[in-house]
Amino acid sequence: MSRRWNEILMDDHQATEKVFAALDNAFSASQPPPVRMVSEAMEYLSVYLDRCHNHKEEDYLFPLIEKRGIPREGGPLAVMLAEHEESRRLLAVLTPLAKEYVAGHREVTEALAEAFVAYSSLLKQHFWKENDILYPMALRVLRPEDEASILAGIERTEAAFGADTRAHFYTMAARIAAAGSVADLSVGLDREVLAAMLNTLPVEISFVDANDTVAYFSHENQDKIFPRSRSAIGMKVQQCHPKSSVHRVNAILSAFKAGQREVAEFWIELADRKIHIRYFPVRSPDGRYLGCLETVQDITAIQRLTGQRRLLDDND
Ligand SMILES: [Fe+2]
Ligand SMILES: [Fe+2]
Repeated sequence: MSRRWNEILMDDHQATEKVFAALDNAFSASQPPPVRMVSEAMEYLSVYLDRCHNHKEEDYLFPLIEKRGIPREGGPLAVMLAEHEESRRLLAVLTPLAKEYVAGHREVTEALAEAFVAYSSLLKQHFWKENDILYPMALRVLRPEDEASILAGIERTEAAFGADTRAHFYTMAARIAAAGSVADLSVGLDREVLAAMLNTLPVEISFVDANDTVAYFSHENQDKIFPRSRSAIGMKVQQCHPKSSVHRVNAILSAFKAGQREVAEFWIELADRKIHIRYFPVRSPDGRYLGCLETVQDITAIQRLTGQRRLLDDND
């Protein structure tokens, strides 16, 4: 399915945050940042973020939001535009320093790091405000027909930078992130916390590795919907299912491994409870099949929900 305008703009923010994280890592490492990484990051920031992403907003999104009744002055639009201006001022400080650095003048490293922190700190805040405040507000005021016109504006803006601009710069951002050893967020979690988080999930999970060997199940010391025992760890998943259903298990796993399927789901009734069972292929960021995740969830109470109860309502 094609992405909506807000999803595309948030994808841009996410790719950019990886570039920022790569530079954060590179400037705090003991070795000076690689020149190629700095020059690619500057190309990404000045071409894609400033001249492409910001213009998608300034030329197409913001004017429509204004047309739908949010004033340009004195509100979030004025703040966003002022921050774009401020980011351009900070980029103008950053750019010549980066050029000197790339040309071999290592004495600017400290000034470059400071200029980068000033620039990225502003934009990290800015992205958060857009993701959490401006875009949700826009989604409330925009009309259904506005979707196509913003998407057309995004396409027009990107086309001015060549074919497949977005994919080109996302690949560049991923390359910069790899050069800056940007790890998945979970790497920052300690094992004890990670294990406790898995046991706190409102779904029971189990994991079968890429060789179909049972490797993990959660909630070991709690009552579970389906009993599990430690002796299953290390067994082939086919040994853990009744013979009559093994061919279905194998068909699902083959489809996951071949990249032909992204979920298999079942639901059953257990006494008066409705149990939702889902299987998902687990893949590495580069698409390698790592195994199969099973989730088991009691959805009885969820099925009964109606209306809404919001954090703001103060009535729970
Ligand atoms: Fe923006
Ligand atoms: Fe943005």
